[in-house]
Amino acid sequence: MSTDRPTPGAFVTGGARGIGRGIAAALARRGDVVFVADRDGEAAAATATELVAEGYDARPVVLDVADVDATDAAIAAADAEVPLGTLVNNAGIALTGPLVDVTPDEFDRVIAVNLRGVYFALRAAARRMVPRGRGSIVNIASTSGFTASTSPMTVYDLTKGGVRMLTTTAARELAPTGVRVNAVAPGTVDTELTRAVAADGRSLDELMATRIPMGYVGQPEDIAGAVAYLSSDVARYVTGHTLVVDGGWLT
Ligand SMILES: NC(=O)c1ccc[n+]([C@@H]2O[C@H](COP(=O)([O-])OP(=O)(O)OC[C@H]3O[C@@H](n4cnc5c(N)ncnc54)[C@H](O)[C@@H]3O)[C@@H](O)[C@H]2O)c1
Repeated sequence: MSTDRPTPGAFVTGGARGIGRGIAAALARRGDVVFVADRDGEAAAATATELVAEGYDARPVVLDVADVDATDAAIAAADAEVPLGTLVNNAGIALTGPLVDVTPDEFDRVIAVNLRGVYFALRAAARRMVPRGRGSIVNIASTSGFTASTSPMTVYDLTKGGVRMLTTTAARELAPTGVRVNAVAPGTVDTELTRAVAADGRSLDELMATRIPMGYVGQPEDIAGAVAYLSSDVARYVTGHTLVVDGGWLT
């Protein structure tokens, strides 16, 4: 088995902010050429510029992962520039509120980003990685894929359960090809997404005090470390795994 360094292209969806930004920075620091793909082009450009100013190679990509054709094209273009060793499916949106109020349009939008977007980005990367016989895909799930969110978030929770199962089934199918598929399931991490959900009734401090055994809300770097591990050759025999990173929340 080859143990040389993985091909150093890394494509991070939702890479402009929050957890995705932390992942982009961690992969850039280990020497990957990082494609910061985000529907917010200005924020993607700002993140890439900051990483370049720190001496790393980062390139912004404007992409809404709900658009399958655009996702195919963006991943193909990135892979043609620098063959991708890593895809991180991080882009995700939340929807909070009682299930009786969810509209079909809201339902479809969350599925389109959090599940369909993950599936077709994975498909696009697999099409390029499989012929090379190597590559690593890391999906960002959630502890909400194991247990219900504390605020009602039925559609979000079901997408994260779906991401877990997609990770399992894609890993099984792709294992003989040399392409690994894993997931990271964050607990509560301090980002705009969490603050938006918490603003719905509970403060982050309240969540921290009552639910997180380690006593503090996670930071994007905590998730980035798990992604860096799973997408490195150190984890070459790990596939189909969902690594929970939650300060003990699920214990
Ligand atoms: N923050 C948490 O506590 C937490 C916990 C568990 C799981 N997660 C998951 O981690 C991931 C990142 O969450 P975050 O808290 O950093 O969110 P965030 O809202 O802070 O950042 C998300 C980023 O993704 C981008 N994005 C959103 N929709 C997109 C789309 N359709 N196409 C491309 N880019 C898009 C946004 O522009 C933003 O830059 C999500 O999948 C989320 O479900 C977060």
